[in-house]
Amino acid sequence: KGLRVQDRGFLNTAVMQSTITYIDGDAGVLRYRGYPIEQLAEKSSHLESAYLLIYGSLPTASQYAHFEQEIMNHGVTHSDATQFFQSFRYDAHPMSMLTSAFAMLGSYYSEANPSLQGQRLYTKGDAASLATMDRQIYRIIGKAITLAAMAYRVRQGREFVTPPTGLSYTASFLYQMDHIGEQDYVPNPILVKALDVLFLIHADHELNASCTTVLQTGSSLVDPYSAIAAGCASLYGPLHGGANEAVIRMLISIGKPENVPAFIEAVKRREKTLSGFGHRVYKTSDPRSFIVRKTADEVFKVTGQDQLLETAMALHDAAMKDEYFIKRRLAPNVDFCGLIYRAMGFPLDFFPVLFAVPRVVGWLAHWRQMMLQEGGVKIWRPRQVYVGETKRDYVPVDDRV
Ligand code: CMC
Repeated sequence: KGLRVQDRGFLNTAVMQSTITYIDGDAGVLRYRGYPIEQLAEKSSHLESAYLLIYGSLPTASQYAHFEQEIMNHGVTHSDATQFFQSFRYDAHPMSMLTSAFAMLGSYYSEANPSLQGQRLYTKGDAASLATMDRQIYRIIGKAITLAAMAYRVRQGREFVTPPTGLSYTASFLYQMDHIGEQDYVPNPILVKALDVLFLIHADHELNASCTTVLQTGSSLVDPYSAIAAGCASLYGPLHGGANEAVIRMLISIGKPENVPAFIEAVKRREKTLSGFGHRVYKTSDPRSFIVRKTADEVFKVTGQDQLLETAMALHDAAMKDEYFIKRRLAPNVDFCGLIYRAMGFPLDFFPVLFAVPRVVGWLAHWRQMMLQEGGVKIWRPRQVYVGETKRDYVPVDDRV
């Protein structure tokens, strides 16, 4: 009663205060904890930026060493995980596997389960509870690459790789994906660097659909593994993390640059969507799209240029001067990074996984912020405006018309 405000799609609803990520969608600005994304992409690493996002400041050398060591040590999964992955059908979508794998992890760590441990698990200023929280964070980030590599290899019937020692986070991921038998294998450093930059720019983007899902799920005080699984499920969709996969499917369907004008007309008739364009917050080019372009140049020097690049450029140029897109302020978002993933040899349906793996960092940063906020956690329970039937009486099946 008395509820009138409806904000379909949460266009104008701010559900919390946050100190993590700042976006100015009109100016095309993105900052993690105040640091411009361009500076971080050039000077930092994914794991260092992860520390920044989660704890609020850039780490000292010893803080970073500890953080990295904890995360890398937690990369190994329980041996039961092997059986778990092998129970999927050979053609299972890797994002379904990753989502389920995070939920599975929740069953292993009773210390994170509030129904077993009592309601108030994490308290600001209580060192023991903060250490428990840190352990879940290390585990989730550490195991994200291992689970993703398992989801990749199981479909090829290849045995899983034990996380190596002495490699960086992103190099360890590529090692676990590609390592073959006894052979010494070192991932190409240019590709490692490129993927690390892509991980870094995907690490957080404030209250997008998946982060909101993590917080909504986490607001019931469920364990973070279950909340992260919920985030993965939300990210999977083609309007969100599935868009990088959709971009490539769209470019393949367009084929040659000559077919671009007809495709643009079909978009304007609303028969097609131009994936990789448009954003809820950015009303100008997504600042990450420039970093993607620069990174693509580096990667293509190693892999050769992707055949779809010319079509992508033609599409970009056509859309940027078309009145339909100009009027709606639609510009490229981050999802043309699919071209880089393709050039690096990742299968198409693995692209959303390459988004989810770094995004666990942002989800955890927001989850931690919420769990430690002043006044404790308030369960997220929005209201609706009911517009259905008034009271009616049950009709037996034989009397229904
Ligand atoms: N192609 C054609 N028309 C579009 C597009 C597009 N990609 N994006 C928005 N529009 C139109 C939309 O039809 C609407 O037109 P009208 O006002 O005449 O009805 C207008 O632009 C406003 O769009 P909206 O759907 O109200 O905007 P939204 O904020 O609800 O949706 C979006 C944002 C990202 C879901 C949408 O732009 C979209 O579907 N883009 C394509 C999918 C995509 O690339 N998603 C990845 C987003 S970035 C990474 C991430 O967050 O995962």
